[in-house]
Amino acid sequence: MAQFPTPYFLVDEGRLRSNLELLKTVQEQAGCKILLAQKAFSMFYCYPLLRQYLAGSTASGLYEARLGKEHFGGETHVFSPAYRPDEFEELLQYADHLVFNSPAQLDKFAPRARAAGKQVGLRINPECSTQEGQAIYDPCAPGSRLGTTLANFRPDQLPLLDGLHFHTLCEQDADDLETTLRAFEDKFGPFLKGLKWLNLGGGHHITRPGYQVDRLIGLIRRLRETYGVEVYLEPGEAVVLNAGFLVASVLEIVHNDMDIAILDTSAACHIPDVLEMPYRPPLQGSGEPGEKAHTYRLAGPTCLAGDVIGDYSFDAPLQEGDTLVFEDMALYTMVKTNTFNGMPLPAIRWRDWDGKVSLVRSFSYQDFKTRLS
Ligand SMILES: Cc1ncc(COP(=O)(O)O)c(C=O)c1O
Repeated sequence: MAQFPTPYFLVDEGRLRSNLELLKTVQEQAGCKILLAQKAFSMFYCYPLLRQYLAGSTASGLYEARLGKEHFGGETHVFSPAYRPDEFEELLQYADHLVFNSPAQLDKFAPRARAAGKQVGLRINPECSTQEGQAIYDPCAPGSRLGTTLANFRPDQLPLLDGLHFHTLCEQDADDLETTLRAFEDKFGPFLKGLKWLNLGGGHHITRPGYQVDRLIGLIRRLRETYGVEVYLEPGEAVVLNAGFLVASVLEIVHNDMDIAILDTSAACHIPDVLEMPYRPPLQGSGEPGEKAHTYRLAGPTCLAGDVIGDYSFDAPLQEGDTLVFEDMALYTMVKTNTFNGMPLPAIRWRDWDGKVSLVRSFSYQDFKTRLS
């Protein structure tokens, strides 16, 4: 993988297709529709491939909605905590389903959406946290702005609604969905009868080995039978889980109590979730610190002291110019990159079914400069 200038993202068609095959099976067996959450992955180069398997895309606002409409096709859904009046007319050109966050947003925008022939939904908050210690990713955390709680729900608005939406999970299995559904049905079940659809949001880690796929399928079938609704899922991660890499090189080795390798990729600029989430990305051929003979801290070339990817061990000492391949780098990476410190953006490459690697996009000084003035 070192024959190309680093750093670059590499997305693998074979791995992507195997995720998509599983998602297609879920759609067929559960009788539901699955959408790509573009916030996790917006590499529109492969949207035509994804569209062969998925029913459409979902967006967090105007630009993603436009990208989904223009490049993905199928159904285009959108959810925003608060829509902008000056964007709404344009948004109506792109979106088929508009999900609102609050009764006030419904009052403000739903009549226009309905008049334009769109499907209208309300995001509800079932107030059921199933995540441990990750409040930043928990829309049910106390004080959350995301979704309408039962106390704020207005049954008089039901005539404005085609469906309900909730999103509460993050990298979770079907048992957590089941727990959430219990809370959701207790509170909102009676309102669902008579509506057309229920969107279960994202966070379903369906393509992770060991995920309880049959349990998910059973839950969806039961929802469809009990309430007579169409069911949507809108995963981001599960679509591209383990389907991409970030290939980087060692620029320099320094020593300060430990060996530190400075790479040509940066946690802060290229994998910001490493710092935000935080997590330690998998790295091919490496071990935990101390597991193999040579341990290094892998760090970025920016000025940020905390621009550290993590501590890893290797069988042989690292050398300047060595290639390192970080795994599971398709999700929440390209969509979050930035050029802090004037860092170049990684190129985007594609490995097709036959193993042939092509350059999809490279970036230059202009991409840094044009955002700034
Ligand atoms: C409303 C909504 N839908 C879908 C997703 C996608 O979630 P994931 O990538 O964890 O599957 C998110 C993620 O934040 C979300 O907020």
